[in-house]
Amino acid sequence: MSELATKLEQLRARFEAALREAASARLLDSVRVAFLGRSGEVTALRRGIGKLPASERPGAGQTINEAVDAMEEALRHAQARLQSRDVEAILSERIDVTFPAIQSAQGSIHPMRRVMHDVCAYFERHGFAVVLGPEIEPDYYNFDALNIPPDHPAREGFDSFFVTTNLLLRPHTSPMQIRTMQQHRPPVAVVVPGTCYRRDAVDARHLFQFNQCEGLLIDEGVHMGHLKGMLTGMCRELFGPEQQVRFRPSYFPFTEPSAEVDTTCPLCRGAGGECRMCGGSGWIELGGAGMVHPNVLRNVDYDPEIYSGWAFGFGLERMALVRYDIDDIRRFFENDPAFLEQLA
Ligand code: FA5
Repeated sequence: MSELATKLEQLRARFEAALREAASARLLDSVRVAFLGRSGEVTALRRGIGKLPASERPGAGQTINEAVDAMEEALRHAQARLQSRDVEAILSERIDVTFPAIQSAQGSIHPMRRVMHDVCAYFERHGFAVVLGPEIEPDYYNFDALNIPPDHPAREGFDSFFVTTNLLLRPHTSPMQIRTMQQHRPPVAVVVPGTCYRRDAVDARHLFQFNQCEGLLIDEGVHMGHLKGMLTGMCRELFGPEQQVRFRPSYFPFTEPSAEVDTTCPLCRGAGGECRMCGGSGWIELGGAGMVHPNVLRNVDYDPEIYSGWAFGFGLERMALVRYDIDDIRRFFENDPAFLEQLA
């Protein structure tokens, strides 16, 4: 055997041993570079060809080429072996499909938002538009235009936070009655959900910031029967099919006659007795309502001889308390996830 053939045999033996030891594609590639690369060991052997007698050169070149072919074949085998080893490792991995998945935190609609949405959806289906208004209003919209002149004692009940001497956070959604009627001629049918503010001490039934939904219908021939019908339908949708609605005489300067509106207590179904929700009366108060006062209609240039209408203003937190059987109105503001998850 020629000297070159012996060298090539030793080289191949070392190459194949290195391939067997290479445990990753990266290591395999460094073996390839060391032996078959441009500055590798095979190239060094090729350079030696020039020193051989001319008659031996062609044979030497062919011997090297054959050795390189064999080495490249060995390299491909080694690469294939590594690849199938990786695939087998993946396939043999044991996956416990019964292992509980990691729960992703999922939000839900806030119960207050849901009540607001359901009230609006009911009125929208009956042809009412949903409109929103400013939360800071001048005296004029909060009081004067609603037939509550400057020194009227009714202003006490709507005491709020003043921004300037005649600009305040609205204590009710009723200012939007005026703004809507100023912008539209009858017939008018709107509901106005939104936040209100009052200087009330916070307790289980009161917040200083809460939500109301106002309703307003103005047309020829509108009467309280329409109001009772609409509110009964709303209560049946929100609280159950047997709900009743009753009016108790009351007073608001912007309605005449005025009423407090009650609905059957959804917990005791009107039975009363020891019921903790309604205190035994069998009824739950929703808010105020009445026929829009002629002075209010005149303030927006509606002729009270032609047009009549009703308005109502309900507290949405109070409705949510009843709907979800909650003991304390403050829970809606605390945003305790444990509480909200129960109502999700
Ligand atoms: C009014 O606010 C009148 N604007 C309602 C009205 C509109 C009457 C249209 C006639 C025509 P009242 O002050 O009663 O009325 O409030 C209505 C409802 O808002 C109350 O029944 C209650 O459910 C809710 N509410 C009032 N104050 C608070 C408070 N501090 N915290 C939570 N809810 C409140």
